[in-house]
Amino acid sequence: MPDLVLPQVEAYAAAQSLPETPVRRALREETHRTMEFARMLVGPLEGGFLHLMARLVRAERVLEIGMFTGYSALCFAEALPAHGRVVTCEVDEESAAVARRFFSQSPHGAKIEIRMGPALETMADLTGPFDVIFIDADKQNYVNYYRRAVELLSPRGVILIDNVLWDGQVLLDPPPDDRTAAIQELNRIVAADSRVNAVLATIRDGLWIITPTASH
Ligand SMILES: C[S@@+](CC[C@H](N)C(=O)[O-])C[C@H]1O[C@@H](n2cnc3c(N)ncnc32)[C@H](O)[C@@H]1O
Repeated sequence: MPDLVLPQVEAYAAAQSLPETPVRRALREETHRTMEFARMLVGPLEGGFLHLMARLVRAERVLEIGMFTGYSALCFAEALPAHGRVVTCEVDEESAAVARRFFSQSPHGAKIEIRMGPALETMADLTGPFDVIFIDADKQNYVNYYRRAVELLSPRGVILIDNVLWDGQVLLDPPPDDRTAAIQELNRIVAADSRVNAVLATIRDGLWIITPTASH
């Protein structure tokens, strides 16, 4: 599948948007140099968008499902007040080691708490409310993450779910694999959920932006 947004258009938009901090830039460059699946990292434009969403809801507590080398966690941490906290979930030690190294170089790194282990187990143990919940891990669990995220969300909060266009493969019927099917199921569930207002924004690979309705 081709990029959903032309790379030169994405680069232009990024150049007009919130600048990347030096620590984030160094982290992104090292991730691309040393990690096999560097493309998983959200990048400067979507990262700037995540940062702005956290500022818009005046977030103090952020929950992230899927940290990788910590780029998006840093985007959130940079948006929080000094007492703010990002709880971020990861299973891969190699990624977490890179993240820890860069968090220690950032003035905002102390706001980030890494929870190693399967995110569903971590979520089961957590107590809300969280003002931003960003879901960006294994696609087969997206529906489970969404269900628990709704329970953990603050009334003024927002759930953001990444890769929900899946390179456009969500259009395919039947779905070519389990991951595509899982994302299609999530999209049906979110779109039909009367507890939330949701927009599937065509940012990068597709991003759900979900807020509770007034009665929830
Ligand atoms: C798309 S990457 C996250 C990218 C990151 N949010 C960023 O933009 O910098 C997904 C991450 O989720 C992690 N992951 C996969 N399954 C997981 C699980 N069950 N629990 C926690 N993390 C998981 C992977 O190891 C991987 O690092």
